[in-house]
Amino acid sequence: MTPVSEAIPVAKLTQRIGRIQPSATMAVVAEADKLRVQGVDVVDLSVGEPHFATPQHIKDAAIAAIQANFTKYTAAAGTAELRDAIIQRHAVDFGSNYKREEAVVSVGGKHVLFNAIQVLVEHGDEVILPVPYWVSFKDIVQYAGGKCVFLETDEAQGFRVTANAIARLVTPRTKMIILNSPSNPSGAVMSPEDQTEVAKLAAERGIWVLSDECYIYLNYTGRQFSLASVPEVRDRLVIAGSLSKTYAMTGWRMGYALAPALAAGAMAKLQSQSTSNPTSIAQKAAVAALKGSQDCVEEMRKDYIQLRDHMVAGLRALPGVKCNMPEGAFYVYPNISSQFGRSGVNSPADFAGKLLREAHVATVPGEGFGTHEHIRVSYATSMKELDRGLERLQKFLASL
Ligand SMILES: Cc1ncc(COP(=O)(O)O)c(C=O)c1O
Repeated sequence: MTPVSEAIPVAKLTQRIGRIQPSATMAVVAEADKLRVQGVDVVDLSVGEPHFATPQHIKDAAIAAIQANFTKYTAAAGTAELRDAIIQRHAVDFGSNYKREEAVVSVGGKHVLFNAIQVLVEHGDEVILPVPYWVSFKDIVQYAGGKCVFLETDEAQGFRVTANAIARLVTPRTKMIILNSPSNPSGAVMSPEDQTEVAKLAAERGIWVLSDECYIYLNYTGRQFSLASVPEVRDRLVIAGSLSKTYAMTGWRMGYALAPALAAGAMAKLQSQSTSNPTSIAQKAAVAALKGSQDCVEEMRKDYIQLRDHMVAGLRALPGVKCNMPEGAFYVYPNISSQFGRSGVNSPADFAGKLLREAHVATVPGEGFGTHEHIRVSYATSMKELDRGLERLQKFLASL
């Protein structure tokens, strides 16, 4: 009998799906999972999510929603209750001023980014993306037919992004600038002044700013800031927010856009023809998260600071490892290039691959984030795991 794969011709896939890659972080997770299945004890410093459980009052709200049969479709852009809660929380915390029709609830922050880029970036448009960048920005832009224009930054300057540097890359085709502060993967935080200057430059030239605020509550500088508080740039600004990291809700898939009504309406329209509304139950949980006590956010933030300090001190004590002090998010981005040339290690991918296979520590190589001398280490785990990871790293370096 002819095997099915020979009888049916391989389907011709679209050009656009050929333009994107699976996420680099997912590849590490898959390799670490393979080892775990074989019974290997892996120390996982690759994860991009909080190790905390979702706070109880948020879980209770979801359970209550199920019991009350709040289990039907909602408006595609999310319930009025949740959109109002988002607007209010953002206004109180960051001094913004949005109306309900300027808020859209989506299935996680990544979905917000996808919607925003789909409705704003045309084929051939250029999107300025500071390096290192979070992996998905590049692929989402490419899927829309846009072209990423990379802004190289200087590690010695804390990967600083300035308006001057951006201005040099602007062309008549520039449609959007993507900012992500605090940054995944570097943990760098842009100062309010730098962010404002970039956004003003963009507004003057009619360029959109997509500000990814996924880690905005995990800013350890003491200067909480959102571009949404700068009225001059409001007409060209899309805020992509997420409850994933702030409230340890990665699996609930709750994100939101704050944007001028025209853009927000277009994003809601696109969503109405793809996912429809985000899950009704998760929306009730999100209302509880945003309107309830914010103590849990503060408690998690304090813990992250301790974990960061411990991790950075441990990494800096390792011979040949350099690393900046990250000011936000929950990642460290050490430079491991001093190890190149030893034991066949010539790139971050070589280093991270060998580290995983031989020392059983999972990290993410920097190539996926656009740099060639770093690995991303997540400290969203317990102190004990950090210590186990550091100990293995130390032995690994000695073995190279
Ligand atoms: C920079 C950045 N933006 C957005 C997201 C998306 O998060 P979610 O879709 O869970 O809201 C992530 C997740 O890792 C991220 O790191």
